[in-house]
Amino acid sequence: MLSPTHLFLIPPTLLLCLLIRRLITNLFFHPLSSFPAPFYTRLSSLPLAILSLLGREPVFLYNLTKKYPSARAIRITPTLLFFPHASSLKPIYWSPTHNHKGSLYGTGALGPTSLFSTIPADDHKALRKSLGGAHWSVSYLKTSQEPRIDSLVTSLVNQLSLLPPDHEPFQMGDKLAQFAADVMTLLVFGKPWGFIAHDRDERRLLTAFRESLPMFSFAARCNSFRELILSSARMRGLVMPKVDDKTGSGYLASQAKLAVAQREQEREEGVEEEGKVRDYLDYTLDARDSKGEPLTKAQKEAHATLLIQAGADTTGSGLGAVLRLMLEHRECLDKARKEIEAAEERRLLSTPVLYEETKQHLPYFVACIKEGLRLNPPAPNLFGRIILEKGGTVIDGVHVPQGAEVCSHPYAVGRDPEVYGPDAEAFKPERWLGDDEKHRAEMEAANFVFSMGPRVCLGKEIAIMEMYKVLPEIVRRFDFDVVSAGRYVDRGGVAFNKDLKLRVRRRA
Ligand code: HEM
Repeated sequence: MLSPTHLFLIPPTLLLCLLIRRLITNLFFHPLSSFPAPFYTRLSSLPLAILSLLGREPVFLYNLTKKYPSARAIRITPTLLFFPHASSLKPIYWSPTHNHKGSLYGTGALGPTSLFSTIPADDHKALRKSLGGAHWSVSYLKTSQEPRIDSLVTSLVNQLSLLPPDHEPFQMGDKLAQFAADVMTLLVFGKPWGFIAHDRDERRLLTAFRESLPMFSFAARCNSFRELILSSARMRGLVMPKVDDKTGSGYLASQAKLAVAQREQEREEGVEEEGKVRDYLDYTLDARDSKGEPLTKAQKEAHATLLIQAGADTTGSGLGAVLRLMLEHRECLDKARKEIEAAEERRLLSTPVLYEETKQHLPYFVACIKEGLRLNPPAPNLFGRIILEKGGTVIDGVHVPQGAEVCSHPYAVGRDPEVYGPDAEAFKPERWLGDDEKHRAEMEAANFVFSMGPRVCLGKEIAIMEMYKVLPEIVRRFDFDVVSAGRYVDRGGVAFNKDLKLRVRRRA
């Protein structure tokens, strides 16, 4: 007869046995057991989740590429294969059959279910068709939205010009993120929220987003945490932003809701402002599904929220990283400035500088931007895709079984020595300007900063336009005293520039 103590011990013993069985299966009997990997990432998804929580994931993945130099795929959780080489990008991200997203996307980090977090390939394809279109192209942006972005560049330059010579040093990374947040609120809602005008993080939008990311990235990577915690409605209620929040993503969602309702009412009443430049809320309301029907209210609100979440901190991070790396490499900054001065002497630059002018007349500056984004990608995340083909598939010469999740990573793949050579870690804008056209094309094709294929970043041209405008303009107008050099910090798959403290002086 079992005593009550014995009975009490049965459940934990059973649990322990199940756990041991799972660990042994993961180590020796899992379909991915034969892939190279550190012992601990083969056992459980927890180590990667912890590394991400600590902001160590990009460097960890890059170090794995050195530890396993001949590996084409490395097992970074029991179910996830990381492909470190650029030769894997096309087979993973361009294949229509590998367009089913992985677990990373199911956490709600960028708000309610949207284009970004639509998991099945077919659903995504239909929604992308509805929401995509010519208004995302660079030619549209140049004719319709660039003058509006100019007004924000001018506000930023004016604000910095008014600072007294002995002003308090300020966080340039944050300032540029605020600029990007103003651009996004302007383009989506028709008016900037006033980040630059009020010189602050309006409604803690950027700060709250950054604060929330580590928890979401942990949930995205740790399968058991996600299954246990985020699948419970009560727990989700505790951790998710709410529309009655006065700050952060909850406030943003409430503003998206309000803006959709107001704009629809204006349309019904026919009171649209005359001569108004159409914004991305207009395009969202105009979007039609495959049956010609408007999107649902929830889809419209989610899209407006997504555009701000996806486009503000990422672009701000890219702006800050490029400037920081140029300041770290003064010879590059001087060269870029000489290029600007030469173009100015020939009267080739407007004020503020236009996208097309940077593209045509400032090739070295453009190379600095490419190099900065390559080394410090703003979204250093695991963009996982599930292999659904019966019998699996072959990626970069490796057979991947059905059901496995595969991904690459912009930080690691941006340092692939097979593409960038032995000096892949160096900030060397000249590499983008070499004579070898084939090699340049190879580097362009390996660019994973904005992802690629059917799910490539929708706002890529907007982000690039911001970079081509605001960065040359401030380098042209200001000298910089670097009080603190700052560093690239990963916060759960979105990076930012910590402690880039500067004093600026208006140039003659
Ligand atoms: C430097 C700035 C930016 C970077 C590095 C970046 C990066 C990315 C990446 C890597 C993805 C693909 C993720 C995946 O494979 O699932 C993505 C998707 C997306 N991005 Fe961006 N992004 C930037 C700026 C923007 C801007 C300015 C906007 C909005 C105007 C935007 C809107 C989106 C949207 C809507 C998606 C989802 C696309 C889809 O799933 O079809 N992004 N972005």
